Amino acid sequence: MNRDISSLRENYSKDILDTSTVNANPFVQFKEWLYKALDEGLPEPTAFILSTVNQDGMPSGRTILLKEIWDDAFLFFTNYESHKAQDIMHNSHVAATFLWLGLERQIRIKANVKKVSREVTDAYFESRPRGSKLGAWASPQSQLISSREALDQRLKDVESRFEEVEDIPTPEFWGGYAMYPTEIEFWQGRRDRLHDRILYSKEKDNWLINRMAP
Ligand SMILES: Cc1cc2nc3c(=O)[nH]c(=O)nc-3n(C[C@H](O)[C@H](O)[C@H](O)COP(=O)(O)O)c2cc1C
Repeated sequence: MNRDISSLRENYSKDILDTSTVNANPFVQFKEWLYKALDEGLPEPTAFILSTVNQDGMPSGRTILLKEIWDDAFLFFTNYESHKAQDIMHNSHVAATFLWLGLERQIRIKANVKKVSREVTDAYFESRPRGSKLGAWASPQSQLISSREALDQRLKDVESRFEEVEDIPTPEFWGGYAMYPTEIEFWQGRRDRLHDRILYSKEKDNWLINRMAP
C-alpha cells in the first residue's frame, strides 16, 4: 500500500457539468444529484458537513444528516442547546458541504438558518424509532460528561420515565433548522484538476448561474 500521500493522484472522469445543461432551479439540480447518490448506494448519501461560526469568529464543522428538502430550504434536526445551536444563535450564517466521492461530486451551500416550527419538528420526531427518541432525551449534546456509564444511566432514567408512554413527546430542547441558501455550488471532478464548478447565486428572487474556475 502506497503511504506517500503526496504521490496519490486520482483523475476524475465520471461526468461533466455545464451552465447550458444544469436545471435553472438549484433545488431541482440538488435533488437530481442526491437521488443519483442514493441510487448508486453510496454510504450515508444525506450526510453533509455543517459549518458554523461562534461568537468569537471561530469556525466549527460537523457531520449532520439532511432530513427534508423544501422548495426553498434544506432541513436538519439537532439539539437546540448544542454547540452548533449556540453558534447559530449568534450567527445565522452557515455552510453545508456534501461530498459524494463515488460520483466525484461536491455541493457547497451558503445559507441563512432558522428554527422550523414546532409542528414540523414534532412531525419528524414522531417518525423516529423509539430508541432515537429516547436517545434525544438522554443526551445533553455537546456537554462534557463524566463517563459512558453516566450516559447509559441517563438512558436508563429516561427509559423508566417513559416506560408507560407510547408516544414519546419531543424534548423542548430538540428540533429542526431550515437552511435557506443564498449560494449553491455544484462541483464535478474532471481530468487534470480542471474541474467543472457551476455557481447559483440568489439575486432577489432569481438564481443567477455562472461558471467558476476550478
Ligand atoms: C454520519 C453522521 C451523522 C450525524 N447526524 C447528525 C444529525 O443529524 N444531527 C445531530 O445533531 N448530530 C449528528 N451527528 C453528530 C454530529 O456530527 C456532532 O457530533 C453533534 O451534532 C454535536 O455537534 P456540536 O457539538 O458541534 O453541536 C452525526 C454524525 C455523523 C458522523
